Amino acid sequence: MNEIETRMQAALDQARQALAGITSAADLEECRIRFMGRKGEITALLKSMGAVPAEERPQVGRTANRVKAELEEAFAAAEASLGQAEVATATLDVTLPGRLRQVGRSHPVAQTMDDAVAIFRRMGFVVADGPDLETVYHNFDALNTPADHPSRDVADTFYLPDGRCLRTQTSPVQIRVMESQPPPVRIVCPGRCYRCDTPDATHSMNFHQIEGLYVDRRVSLADLKGVLAEFAREMLGPEVKLRFRPHFFPFTEPSIEYDFSCILCGGKGCGVCKHSGWLEISGAGMVDPAVFTAVGYDPEVWTGYAFGMGIERIAMIRHAIQDIRLLYENDRRFLAQF
Ligand code: PHE
Repeated sequence: MNEIETRMQAALDQARQALAGITSAADLEECRIRFMGRKGEITALLKSMGAVPAEERPQVGRTANRVKAELEEAFAAAEASLGQAEVATATLDVTLPGRLRQVGRSHPVAQTMDDAVAIFRRMGFVVADGPDLETVYHNFDALNTPADHPSRDVADTFYLPDGRCLRTQTSPVQIRVMESQPPPVRIVCPGRCYRCDTPDATHSMNFHQIEGLYVDRRVSLADLKGVLAEFAREMLGPEVKLRFRPHFFPFTEPSIEYDFSCILCGGKGCGVCKHSGWLEISGAGMVDPAVFTAVGYDPEVWTGYAFGMGIERIAMIRHAIQDIRLLYENDRRFLAQF
């Protein structure tokens, strides 16, 4: 090694030492100027190559190239580790709270519907589906609804120009299922219904029902009561009681309306149950023989029960919601509670 080579190696060692001690981008820049700048130490040595005797030049040149390469590597490494350290200290403050992501959730009506379907499925019911745009035959005629029944009125039912209507209940799905398969039948049908009602705290033009239908030999009203009582307990808690009141529907005989005991006051009477201790849920009954005849089932052989439920009603009871319209306003402050 001649003198220039020795000085080059010494400068490289110095540069490495200096780089090991830097803590900031400014330190790094200072080092760069000191060793690699136009007036830097290594630069000066490289420039002095001209003075080296011709026979030594190849050997010195090789050393110069190696030193330059190693120096650049050392700077690159120093820069990289400095970069990481800076990222760690400047942008990763592990004490900051995490970013809050807006997480979606299902609507309280959808939640209640899903829960209702799950309860009935556990009891052996199969989910059936039907169209929202129904024929008048399925929505009324086949359900034994007389031609002059008030529910058919244009003041109650939305009709289309082609004569169909928006279904006013999920009961037409009973007809569609029985038309398409022989008994026995055990289905529930969740879905939207439409009625030409004036919206208020308990009425909406568009609401949801879940329909149930069970057809077999020797089905009784007691079977219906058992299933509805079990549903009430699973949906609203083990203390809930069920009661039947006589009613009339064209497609069931006998027909009943059924109530659940008020879960808010435990049946003692409160504002929500209008001090009766009972919450009205919906209608049910034993399938009318005229309905079996309409779908081609022999009413002498087959018996069955059917029930309907208003899903909004149940969601309102579950969450103590006083006005059905809150469910349709899409106010995220309201919906985020469920
Ligand atoms: N479809 C009826 C209603 O909407 C409820 C019902 C269903 C009644 C099944 C009896 C049997 O009010």
